[in-house]
Amino acid sequence: MKHLIDITDLSTEEIDEIISTALDIIDNREKYWDVCKHKKLATLFYEPSTRTRLSFTSAMMELGGQVLGFSDAQTSSVSKGETVQDTVRVVENFTDIIAMRHHTEGAPEEASRVAHVPIINAGDGSHAHPTQTLTDLLTIRREIGRLDNLTIGFCGDLKFGRTVHSLIKALERREGIKVVLIAPEELRLPDMYKTRDVVQEVRTIEEAIGELDVLYMTRVQRERFLDMDEFERVKDSFQLDRKKMAEAKKEMIVLHPLPRVNEILPEVDDDPRAAYFRQVGNGKFVRMALIKKLLEWNK
Ligand code: CP
Repeated sequence: MKHLIDITDLSTEEIDEIISTALDIIDNREKYWDVCKHKKLATLFYEPSTRTRLSFTSAMMELGGQVLGFSDAQTSSVSKGETVQDTVRVVENFTDIIAMRHHTEGAPEEASRVAHVPIINAGDGSHAHPTQTLTDLLTIRREIGRLDNLTIGFCGDLKFGRTVHSLIKALERREGIKVVLIAPEELRLPDMYKTRDVVQEVRTIEEAIGELDVLYMTRVQRERFLDMDEFERVKDSFQLDRKKMAEAKKEMIVLHPLPRVNEILPEVDDDPRAAYFRQVGNGKFVRMALIKKLLEWNK
């Protein structure tokens, strides 16, 4: 059974196949309307979500399939103490594929060990968010036209930001990638996620923005802090505004997995380089491609 728990579960060729399929879906929407007819997706979300859950739902609906699941585990038998593995053993009777988000790192992986249907990790704690990475890669490909020879700055909460951890891993396999880390001491990228692509670590956006092809902004993850005083100290570490954008290349794009709090001022939204809402739209197409491919690979 092939699952998607970590982005490294997919080879570069498989990622490229998913991206090509997503691009074809964008150009030929009607061709895919019946691909998942009579198939069902279960979305098991133990942690809040807007984009990931709704884009999975919309993706399956647009493929002609149906969706069931929960968005609040407290309304399910989880509230009676049912384990993740038992929940999956039950839900797999009702569905062909499962997308799971969990606050505990490793929970989707644990589920995959007993599952007889593909499990997609829709974000587990601070660990990984592989479908956001597919979204980010499709967005870079559509906006810049390539996935190699890029300088990418990751800014904000690099310690807890699972989207950063997954994207850095995926980029490691591409040629000519330079990664610049922009974070305060408390939110630096853990060593386990550092790759050979990391060329620079700085404290301010101004020190790096002029060199970047992609600026990947992130929210400080309040829900991951054990010490709220520390959160208060670092929560406003960065703010992207028009003045800083004036120092960037004309072709640089700004990505953000969203939701944002105040790390990108709304005055940046009208800048054509602000690609974060287009990025959300790509999330649906890449999840359509992923569902199609996972069901094919597991036939
Ligand atoms: N990008 C992302 O994972 O957003 P949600 O938390 O709204 O799903």
